[in-house]
Amino acid sequence: MSLHQTPCAGLVDDTYASAALRHSAEKFKIPADGQPARDVYELIHDELMLDGNARMNLATFCTTWDETEIRRLMDECISKNMIDKDEYPQTAEIEMRCVHMLADLWHSPESAVTMGCSTTGSSEAAMLGGLAMKWRWRKKMQQQGKNCDRPNLITGPVQICWHKFCRYWDIELREIPFAPGRYTSTPEEVIKRCDENTIGVVATLGTTFTLQYEPVRQIAQALDKLEAERKLDIPLHVDAASGGFLAPFLEPDLEWDFRLPRVRSINSSGHKFGLSPLGVGWILWRTKEDLSDDLIFYVNYLGGNMPTFALNFSRPGGQIIAQYYNFLRYGFEGYRKIQQSCREGARFFADRIRSTGIFELISGGGNGEVPGVCWKLRPNSKVPFTLYDLADRLRTRGWLVPAYSLPPNCENTVIQRILVRHGVSVDLLNRLADDLDDAIKYFNTHPTGKVSAKEGSAFHH
Ligand SMILES: Cc1ncc(COP(=O)(O)O)c(C=O)c1O
Repeated sequence: MSLHQTPCAGLVDDTYASAALRHSAEKFKIPADGQPARDVYELIHDELMLDGNARMNLATFCTTWDETEIRRLMDECISKNMIDKDEYPQTAEIEMRCVHMLADLWHSPESAVTMGCSTTGSSEAAMLGGLAMKWRWRKKMQQQGKNCDRPNLITGPVQICWHKFCRYWDIELREIPFAPGRYTSTPEEVIKRCDENTIGVVATLGTTFTLQYEPVRQIAQALDKLEAERKLDIPLHVDAASGGFLAPFLEPDLEWDFRLPRVRSINSSGHKFGLSPLGVGWILWRTKEDLSDDLIFYVNYLGGNMPTFALNFSRPGGQIIAQYYNFLRYGFEGYRKIQQSCREGARFFADRIRSTGIFELISGGGNGEVPGVCWKLRPNSKVPFTLYDLADRLRTRGWLVPAYSLPPNCENTVIQRILVRHGVSVDLLNRLADDLDDAIKYFNTHPTGKVSAKEGSAFHH
């Protein structure tokens, strides 16, 4: 087609007058012809505006703020496949450095040779940790000539990844239900459920529902006692998805990690309080014996043999590099300061929640909690709205502050929760608290939730 035949010749090359933006985008079939990159970019960019602003999503534990240098490194690594250890030996080397730094942070007895690897997040890490426990248990049972058909796993109120693990790998999940006012497991509840078919116990350092740390040390001691009394040697895995990057900096004396010999493996999310961009988690085992050799595949690597244990094959290398960047960039003191300011932000917001007089706090930036605030309506507060209404109202300002009911045994308790992450400043929290106050006033003055015509037309000049 010659230039003078171009349909929009008079409009030069304006994106919004282009063919791509003058029609709805194709949704069911790959279009027959391509379109200019800039037009298609704008088309998709504009549609993504409807996703809202990730930084105002206070539901997520994941990193939503990053430095320019992180973006540059991610960009430089966009085509590096971390599984190609032969081709990208430095990425492989950097992955191992991160494992060893975490091993040191989590007090591994032999941090320079600790077994571990990166994953896509804590969910994949949980699968690997769970599989290692299952393999270890099965070997032990086989050696004793016992039946291996009915493995079980004992947990407190766990994130869905552990439900998936049990379903996908045919394991009975013995999840300790909540009790009114008790939102974590206890050593007694764990021990009650243990038998010779128990492949392991999972304790969570920062539960997804209420942000509280489970009592890892007390559970470890109870399992030690069980072994001494009944000869049941049950490993403890710590799901430290959030806590693994918090407790070492904020509560260094809290014993939850490899200082406890009962703790055989730990997972954590690099992309949560590890401050890295989405797509990186970590799992470490205490000793070589805790990760059966059958689960490891060896790939040729610089003339040697590199062990790998993963569910995926191809995966981008940038997130691992970003994790290493963060370790060097912030150092121990930098992480401590960042996590401390998140905690202070949570305390600030908890005070604002308390001052409304209608909410009861479940957690609010205390010791043994992930920085965040979790609250419910006071039983006697007679308000013309639910927490679901409040969440909905806050959405009109762009905030995502979810309300949800608790799992079985407490399903009638509805709670609301925010996470205070890197990049959620006190100033931002102050605005959120003001918007929350406004939302409460709105419901108090509009009990039916309906806006009058006069109020509705206030926007028109
Ligand atoms: C305690 C816990 N475990 C596991 C996960 C899953 O982590 P990821 O999103 O990194 O897969 C989460 C996510 O919120 C979590 O809070």
